[in-house]
This record gives sequence, C-alpha cells and structure tokens, in this order.
Amino acid sequence: MVTTPEPLNPDPYARIAAVYDVEFRPANADTLGYERRRIGERLLVLGCGTGRVCRGLAAREIVGLDRSAPMIQLAQARASASEVYVQGDMSAFSLGVFDEMIIPNGAFAFLSSRTARAACLSACRAALAGGGSLTIDVPMPEFERWGERHHPETPAWEGEVDGRHVWRTRETFRDPVAQRLELIDRYRDDSGWKATSALVLHLFSVDEMHWMLEANGFYAESVWGDHTDGPIRAGSPRLLVRALPL
Ligand SMILES: C[S@@+](CC[C@H](N)C(=O)[O-])C[C@H]1O[C@@H](n2cnc3c(N)ncnc32)[C@H](O)[C@@H]1O
Repeated sequence: MVTTPEPLNPDPYARIAAVYDVEFRPANADTLGYERRRIGERLLVLGCGTGRVCRGLAAREIVGLDRSAPMIQLAQARASASEVYVQGDMSAFSLGVFDEMIIPNGAFAFLSSRTARAACLSACRAALAGGGSLTIDVPMPEFERWGERHHPETPAWEGEVDGRHVWRTRETFRDPVAQRLELIDRYRDDSGWKATSALVLHLFSVDEMHWMLEANGFYAESVWGDHTDGPIRAGSPRLLVRALPL
C-alpha cells in the first residue's frame, strides 16, 4: 500500500502561468469530448491548471485541483459559482466522493515515479467509491522519434499577453529507455523578459497503461487515440483512456 507522495518538483508554471493561460485558452477539442461522454454531475479535474477544462464543462458541480499556486490563482479569479479550485498534489488528495474524474492534457504524465502514479490512482479509486469513471489523457509517444535524443530550440508560439508581445521556443530531449520526454520552453518578450520552464513527462505505452490501471483498482473500459474517439494506433496524438473501478 503506497501512501507517501513524492516531493514536489519546482513548479515549471511558476513564472509563466499567465502566458500558458493565453496560449491554451482557445483549445477545446478535449472539453468537447469530455462533454459528449459526460456521465456524472459531480466532477473532479486533477491538474486543472488555470481552469480551462473546468470552465468548458461549467454546468456541473466541479472541483479543480492543481499543485501550482499561480495556475490555481488564475483559475480562482475566474471561477463561476459551480467551480471550486484547490491547490494540492494529485498523488495525495482527499476531497470527497465524485461521479467522474478527469486528468486532462498530460497532467498525469508529470508524475515522474511509479510510486506517485500508484498513489494518485489509489486516491482516485477512493474518490470513486460509489462508482463512476476516471479519464486520463496523456501524449502518445512519437515512436518514429524515439531515436532523436535531442531536438534543438525551435520557435513554438507567439501571442499577446497583457499588452506584451510574448514568444516561446521549445527544445526537446528524449530518453527512450526511461520513457522520458523533457521539454525546455523558453519565453521572451520585447522588454527583454525571459523565463524558462522545464516540463518533464513520462511517456506511457498502451500496454503499460492497462496493467498500471489494473494494478491499482481500475480497468480500461475505452481507449482512444484522439478526442474525437479515433482508434489508438501508432501516430495517434493522444493516449486517452476511460477507466472504471474493478
Ligand atoms: C499541461 S498543464 C494542463 C493544465 C490544464 N489541465 C489544461 O489543460 O489547460 C499540466 C498541469 O498539471 C499540473 N500538475 C503537474 N503535476 C501535478 C501534481 N502532482 N498535482 C497536481 N497538479 C499537477 C501542473 O501544475 C499543470 O497545471
């Protein structure tokens, strides 16, 4: 029985929460899918960030949890009456019982150890004591790029944030043995401001996702390769799993 959460890593969103919020605000392919597959009224979103997914599903009673204080503060600033945001670690939480849980947009892949992933699933299992579903969305490994250990810094995004022109580059490192993807995002603006955000993600194989769920009280009821319910195959952008309690 695993109960000890891993120590928190430094928060990669600490300095760039407002920029993240602007960059990802328009994304809604995932929320449309979650709305279509909706099964319950009481929803918990783990790794909710600035509340993008929660807001897209705001007709329900929603609790969002994220470990990043700046991300949660932005979510709280815009919360409607049906949304509650809590700062905390998804591998050690206890927020009551829910009908449905979602860990969107790669947030589960931030859990870097088996211990942390098992602790998170154990807490999710307890929160679904009355039944319901847990949906996990993580990136599919780009198998054809496994051999590419380093991809140099490349322009990735630019936009307006609070009247500033901000741009982001991305440098990528891959460790195929550890199934580890490291994304170094560098942010700059015209005034000379700079911030670096290192995102370290675990990449899951499909089979690993199945046995990990089964070892922690769930089974994968459905597995999709994208948010329009496409099949999982090499080249799918996402590994999207709806798990039910065993
Ligand atoms: C890629 S962002 C996704 C944010 C949001 N779900 C969205 O789609 O816009 C990943 C989020 O997971 C959060 N996160 C990472 N590890 C976490 C942990 N152990 N507990 C809670 N949140 C975590 C990060 O702080 C970040 O907000």
